[in-house]
Amino acid sequence: MSMRTLINFAVSIVITLVLIFVIRGLANVIFAVEKPAKPAIAVPVTEEEEKKEEAAAQEPAKEEAPAEQKTAAAEQQPAAQPAEQQAEQPAQPAEQAQPAEQQQAAAAPAAGDPEAGKKVFNKCKACHFADKKKNKVGPYLLGVVGRKAGAVADFKYSAAMKAKGEEGLVWTEENIAKYLKAPKKFVPGNKMAFAGLKKDKDIADVIAYLKSMKE
Ligand code: HEC
Repeated sequence: MSMRTLINFAVSIVITLVLIFVIRGLANVIFAVEKPAKPAIAVPVTEEEEKKEEAAAQEPAKEEAPAEQKTAAAEQQPAAQPAEQQAEQPAQPAEQAQPAEQQQAAAAPAAGDPEAGKKVFNKCKACHFADKKKNKVGPYLLGVVGRKAGAVADFKYSAAMKAKGEEGLVWTEENIAKYLKAPKKFVPGNKMAFAGLKKDKDIADVIAYLKSMKE
């Protein structure tokens, strides 16, 4: 091989190498692909990477927990405030006296209105007299408050009601209230075909009316 051929060979290699670099550089510019910051589908390669990703997925959940605690704490705050206000109230006896009175009124359901009770008694009228000792479908209720259950001599009570009376059931205001609220529950098997009164106020009023009707 002559010297010339050798030089030619070397030069062509250098040119080829230069060309390769130039073409690669150009290709990078022409076919530049912007890599997404995050791969669309993350494929964990090693177990370690998997663990890292799991941890990353759990992280937002961990961050939420303190936020919930914060809201819980925020909810607790207003709840705590009334307690503080209550503690302050003894300093204002005039204001405190009012709720106490209201509580008493609520605690005494028997404090009904006999006038209103007379109207409620319209629901009972079909079966009961309250102003005379005369039975209808049901026994007369004149003087029923304080009377023993099943005690009207000439009325044919159900066995259940008779038994209750023999057990010692007395029609106190409290017991009448319970009976009128749910007749079938208070005296199971009794024959009063009446669903009961839903409103506690109606019950209190009708009892006040019955109480006012004395022999
Ligand atoms: C559909 C008819 C009917 C209606 C309405 C009715 N009752 Fe009666 N009531 C009866 C009957 C019947 C008995 C007797 C039950 C028994 O013997 O099991 C009775 C029993 C009672 C007793 C027990 C009396 C006793 O001597 O032991 C009371 C109290 C009473 N009723 C109150 C009322 C009141 C108050 C109302 C209205 C809110 C009312 N009832 C509505 C039919 C009725």
